[in-house]
Amino acid sequence: MFYISAKEFLLWEKKQLFKGGDKESLYLLLESIAGLSHDELNLLRLNSEGDFYLKKNLGLIESYWDNHLTNNVPIQYLSGFTFWRDLKLSVSENVLIPRPETELIIDIILKIFENNSKNLFFAELGTGSGAISIALALAHPLWEGIATDIDKDAIDIASRNFMNYSNQQNLRFCSGHWWNPLETFKGELDFVVSNPPYIPEEIYQKLPVEVKNFEPKIALLGGEDGLEHIKEIIYNAPLYLKKKGWLILENHFDQGSIVRQLFLDNRFTCVEVLKDFSGIGRFTIGRYK
Ligand SMILES: C[S@@+](CC[C@H](N)C(=O)[O-])C[C@H]1O[C@@H](n2cnc3c(N)ncnc32)[C@H](O)[C@@H]1O
Repeated sequence: MFYISAKEFLLWEKKQLFKGGDKESLYLLLESIAGLSHDELNLLRLNSEGDFYLKKNLGLIESYWDNHLTNNVPIQYLSGFTFWRDLKLSVSENVLIPRPETELIIDIILKIFENNSKNLFFAELGTGSGAISIALALAHPLWEGIATDIDKDAIDIASRNFMNYSNQQNLRFCSGHWWNPLETFKGELDFVVSNPPYIPEEIYQKLPVEVKNFEPKIALLGGEDGLEHIKEIIYNAPLYLKKKGWLILENHFDQGSIVRQLFLDNRFTCVEVLKDFSGIGRFTIGRYK
């Protein structure tokens, strides 16, 4: 712990922002590595007379900040943490940093099953840091889930993230290509959720440096038209879902109507494209017959 005066800290903060970057990123760094929350920062501004504690010294925090500004390394990879819904998750360059727009997928699923008190069996394809599956397993301790990913390092991170929150046994982790780890669960899943890689090749090439140079390509690129993985997931879903089971997918901002048609072509019913907070048709849901 490092004891520091509020005045000294506020001067330091001004100096850091003067070098560049945005306030939100600096606050994220302060929260994730120094344990200083937004609320505590606001209190410091209201009363700059006192002293307080930081988990790390200002010199070290500044070195992280400089690395972020110079090399465009995302703060989350520097600190090793990200915040998503009410979770603090470990992340490394092996996993995508879970995005705020994806948070809504949890509310969509909870809404679909709000009147269903049964113990459900679900799978997530491409779990990355585990964000989606962990949020679901914690929200419904009686549900049972299997979180899968092609990347074994992602599976390690996701399972450690789950263990940090719970000693429940209701979430398992398996690595493998899309449906392969679920071979023994054909026809048994109440719902399957996935935020697959869906960025088209041309757009991928133009992504900002902090995304393209640091986040895993395998987590982002969806082939030439962005739909390669989405198609594979939809085509095989009927084999694995229970009768009337749900498939819930995130898609790129402009893929909603194509993904909707793919659901319909594969005999899904109740198909809907749902909007995110920016009004973009970001999620496609449907029920297998
Ligand atoms: C867009 S990321 C989503 C990560 C996480 N679910 C989230 O929402 O933040 C897509 C994930 O799919 C995984 N993935 C890519 N190709 C895969 C494949 N063929 N089979 C299984 N998982 C795959 C990636 O490793 C990555 O973790």
